[in-house]
Amino acid sequence: MRRHLLGIRGMTRTELENHLENALSFGEVSGRDIKKVPALRGKTVINLFLEPSTRTRASFEIAGKWLSADTINIGEDSSVKKGETLADTARNLEAMSPDVLVVRHRESGAPHLLAKLLTKCSVINAGDGLNEHPTQALLDCLTLKHHFRDRAEGISGLRIAIVGDVRHSRVARSNIWAHLLLGNEICLVGPPTLVPAEFADPRAFGGNIRISHSLGAGIEGSDVVMCLRVQRERQDEHFLPSLEEYTTEYGVTESKLRKFAPQAVVLHPGPVNRGIEVSSEVIDGPRSLVTQQVTFGVAVRMAALFTLATGTAGQREQSQNE
Ligand code: NCD
Repeated sequence: MRRHLLGIRGMTRTELENHLENALSFGEVSGRDIKKVPALRGKTVINLFLEPSTRTRASFEIAGKWLSADTINIGEDSSVKKGETLADTARNLEAMSPDVLVVRHRESGAPHLLAKLLTKCSVINAGDGLNEHPTQALLDCLTLKHHFRDRAEGISGLRIAIVGDVRHSRVARSNIWAHLLLGNEICLVGPPTLVPAEFADPRAFGGNIRISHSLGAGIEGSDVVMCLRVQRERQDEHFLPSLEEYTTEYGVTESKLRKFAPQAVVLHPGPVNRGIEVSSEVIDGPRSLVTQQVTFGVAVRMAALFTLATGTAGQREQSQNE
């Protein structure tokens, strides 16, 4: 059993599938009248979020609380602002004996550094720089597993188009690792500045990835269109000539979906720039799974916290029934 959850990279397919199975078993808690199980009573979870977050942070906190763990949240107003290093912050937090430290950080590799440094508590990566966001990929896969539950091959052999700002997206990277493991076809779609050719180099992800700089050709026949947020905070880096031009070429609209991928369901990790990378008609329409993604996010995080805090995935049923 691994002590940390740092990325999808390096996982085996069985590990990935076990995560999804565990998460499914926690999913029913959200439908209960009293949403609390005693599984992590007496355990402590610290959420250290040194970058903005709504969904990920709220769902880690809810997940911890539903499992009866004591959850503490530390945000961007921590002493890191006073110049304390991340390593010192983490060592001090570990001195208070948490069982799990959930970390979001703008530097790629920050959670990996903490995992090396901390000897007693587990680390979960809640998004590090441009690198990975493993629980997002897990919740995306869980949403698809639920949606395609009647499909004989499950979520294997799907055609997945990932559209938009792939270059800056840790969500895209974690999903690429996940869908390669699951045996899905991946096409990355966007302008060359946001979808650079290196992504298709077998040395990057070690699998077969297609790139398309045309939205129509890229999403054609897809089962899943995953839209990514245009990271407007990076607009001054000149990756796009203008947002209007981006939207005309790559904005996902219902008419383009009807034409090129009529069967496709749509995912988006949030936050959504409505009318930029995707239209409101799509996001609010019947093919959108975005609300389900958020709901499944809690189950995925419950499973991750439970597995790491107890060092076991096998006791979940027993704990839930206590
Ligand atoms: C993403 C993130 O922070 O990586 N959001 C999320 O966690 N749901 C995606 C983004 O900010 O574009």
